[in-house]
Amino acid sequence: MSEIQAAPAQDFYFNPWDEAFRANPYPHYLPLYNGAPRTIDLLAPVALVARYADVKSVLLDAATFSSVLPTENALGDQNDILADAPTVLQSDPPVHTRLRRLVSRDFTPRRIRELEPRIRQIAKELLDRASAKGSFDVMADLANPLPVMVIAEMLGVPPEMYPRFKHWSDKVVESDNTLPGMPIPDDIKTAFKELSDYFAVQIELRRKTPGPDLVSALVAAHDTAEALSAGELLQFVVLLLLAGNETTTNLIGNGMLALMRHRDQLELLRKTPSLLGGAIEEMLRYDGPVQSTFRTATRDCEVGGKPLAAKTGMFVILAAANRDPAIFASPERFDITRSPNDHVAFGEGIHFCIGAGLARLEGAVAFSAMLERYPHLELADPGAVLKYKGSYFLRGLEHLNLATD
Ligand code: HEM
Repeated sequence: MSEIQAAPAQDFYFNPWDEAFRANPYPHYLPLYNGAPRTIDLLAPVALVARYADVKSVLLDAATFSSVLPTENALGDQNDILADAPTVLQSDPPVHTRLRRLVSRDFTPRRIRELEPRIRQIAKELLDRASAKGSFDVMADLANPLPVMVIAEMLGVPPEMYPRFKHWSDKVVESDNTLPGMPIPDDIKTAFKELSDYFAVQIELRRKTPGPDLVSALVAAHDTAEALSAGELLQFVVLLLLAGNETTTNLIGNGMLALMRHRDQLELLRKTPSLLGGAIEEMLRYDGPVQSTFRTATRDCEVGGKPLAAKTGMFVILAAANRDPAIFASPERFDITRSPNDHVAFGEGIHFCIGAGLARLEGAVAFSAMLERYPHLELADPGAVLKYKGSYFLRGLEHLNLATD
């Protein structure tokens, strides 16, 4: 064979199950901005949609790009774990429209604002505990417990249940890391079973004696004509744990790491606290909690000049879009004054994150509480190799130890 006929060497590397790739996926996105989406082979071809314009066009066309996870492939066991009830995240219209209407009413801006004093109080108590201990791991001391406590309160889970609830939440998140084609481990299945048994009882209790919590509101919705089925209700609780906890946790962790590595931006924020809102947006853009989401083509189609056959899966890489040089000037620069900053960290279109307002509020409360509490913050061991949790899709640190004096 002549050299001219030889297949071109692959000009990119993309392996979400490689720890080194996960630790810093950003350099691997660079080749993906040149030309049409590439494909990788994950038992079947999966297209890598990375350019901002392509990501947006896919997310805005829910008819062509389905959110329903394919069942006949590697993800089968993950899908089976909670029977077949669809979640709002993994459904298409008209199912999505119905579920979204039912579950979004407790996430209105007014309802979120009402939560602020309580979120501040929880953050203060968590930092009091860390101060008494004399060391500060952003993840263990604040970023992990804060969102899970807020969701637990919204669901009406009593404080004595938090450790159990946190354990279930961790297991739900772990299920996301199971390699394609591998069965879900037994301890994760057990956690799902306990979580579902707990909420099955709670659902019955709230039906008899409704309270001001989200489960009661969902049970009420369940009992109207547009009902949520018991399975859907349970799926929503699980989704809140996965979509609502781990993500906000990682906003706080990834955001604090960015501030530690860009001291000028940290000082600027300390001097001008009114920049906090913009700083949170830049944290979401620069190193967002959700690297990628997933879609499947419902028909033969084309994305960014690449023809895709019906049923082709695609990674819609939000974090790559957020660093696309065609949209963001000096995208690798962390700049809390960046404007405009039209990132897609919360997605786009009909699945745009229901919890965006809550996540922004929790992020703002967490950062203002940390910066007020600690006039001095730096990495405890600047030379240490930081370890990321197992999921490529939900990017976050295991620990982030800071020196506070
Ligand atoms: C910084 C934190 C967060 C980030 C980065 C984030 C990101 C996202 C993204 C990218 C999507 C769309 C996924 C897709 O189109 O496939 C999404 C959907 C969703 N998020 Fe979030 N999220 C965060 C926090 C939260 C919170 C706090 C909650 C709730 C308490 C939440 C609940 C949801 C729900 C229910 C959906 C599904 C919406 C739908 O499919 O219509 N998220 N989120």
